Amino acid sequence: MLGQKLIHALANSKSFELIATSKGANRCLLTSGYTYRSLDITDENRVEEVFQNVKPDIVIHTAAMTNVDSCEQDHSSCLKMNVDAVGYLVKASEKYQAHLIHLSTDFIFNGTHGPLSEEEKPDPVSFYGHSKLQGEKLVQQSTCRWAIVRTVLVYGVVDGMSRSNIVLWAKDALEKGKSIQVVDDQFRTPTLAEDLAAGCILIAEKGATGIFHISGKDFMCVYDLALRVADFWKLDKSLIRRAKSTDIKQPAQRPPITGFILNKAKVNLRYEPNSFEEGLLILDNQLKIGNH
Ligand SMILES: NC(=O)c1ccc[n+]([C@@H]2O[C@H](COP(=O)([O-])OP(=O)(O)OC[C@H]3O[C@@H](n4cnc5c(N)ncnc54)[C@H](OP(=O)(O)O)[C@@H]3O)[C@@H](O)[C@H]2O)c1
Repeated sequence: MLGQKLIHALANSKSFELIATSKGANRCLLTSGYTYRSLDITDENRVEEVFQNVKPDIVIHTAAMTNVDSCEQDHSSCLKMNVDAVGYLVKASEKYQAHLIHLSTDFIFNGTHGPLSEEEKPDPVSFYGHSKLQGEKLVQQSTCRWAIVRTVLVYGVVDGMSRSNIVLWAKDALEKGKSIQVVDDQFRTPTLAEDLAAGCILIAEKGATGIFHISGKDFMCVYDLALRVADFWKLDKSLIRRAKSTDIKQPAQRPPITGFILNKAKVNLRYEPNSFEEGLLILDNQLKIGNH
């Protein structure tokens, strides 16, 4: 999701020459204004080969094994992607002196309180969270110029609608008249994918280093998020059933309260995210014109 948003934001840029990579063929509908290369980042030799050819000034590392429950059930694949591959990118960024911008998550925290600043102590409660924290440590120990972008519950429209998220899931179910169970004991600052891409680009433009919390600015529980989605699209709120995390059986534990304090990003980067409803309006327009 973030990778595609970066392509849309940076293709045909006057300031950057964009080389986008992912595993397999390009699935982004926009195919001009940048170059695409197939790259499986768990293949160390391919990583080295691509760096040698491209010699990037800046690397924005958006790929990850992001399905929290799959990570809980398949530790080996999770570690290959979220830790080992980060190591290959760190090594190559050091060798070719690239500015490495690495994506991480609120799931490195235990969720006892929020919203959280960059100074909070990590303490993950899931295997995904552990793996992303290990990835962060590899980046922090590296000698390259690095920035870590932690984010929270990203929503947006992906080309071909190949990936869903909480907003699209709730909208879709309510439109079909299906009732949904939504937890009221998990708190987040949901992030519009375009805002996250803008945050990464600000870091790239400013050559910023260190840890940045980049998310939306509205703090809410997931149940309220679903109500706000229903309000926005004038859908039937009575279909939304309040639930507790313990009611929903999932392999991985989620941190109850996260969400981010954005002061550092606002002051140092001039990062200004949309409100949640502004984000829904952007998404609605994209769905209407089919251009995302
Ligand atoms: N989404 C969220 O709510 C959220 C919240 C907090 C933090 N984050 C972090 O933000 C970053 C971006 O998240 P996202 O939502 O954009 O993730 P995403 O939509 O799941 O995208 C991850 C991409 O990585 C690709 N990938 C998987 N294995 C690969 C490999 N071996 N080589 C190259 N590419 C590979 C995936 O390809 P396939 O499509 O083929 O699988 C997918 O396109 C991640 O670091 C994530 O941990 C996300």
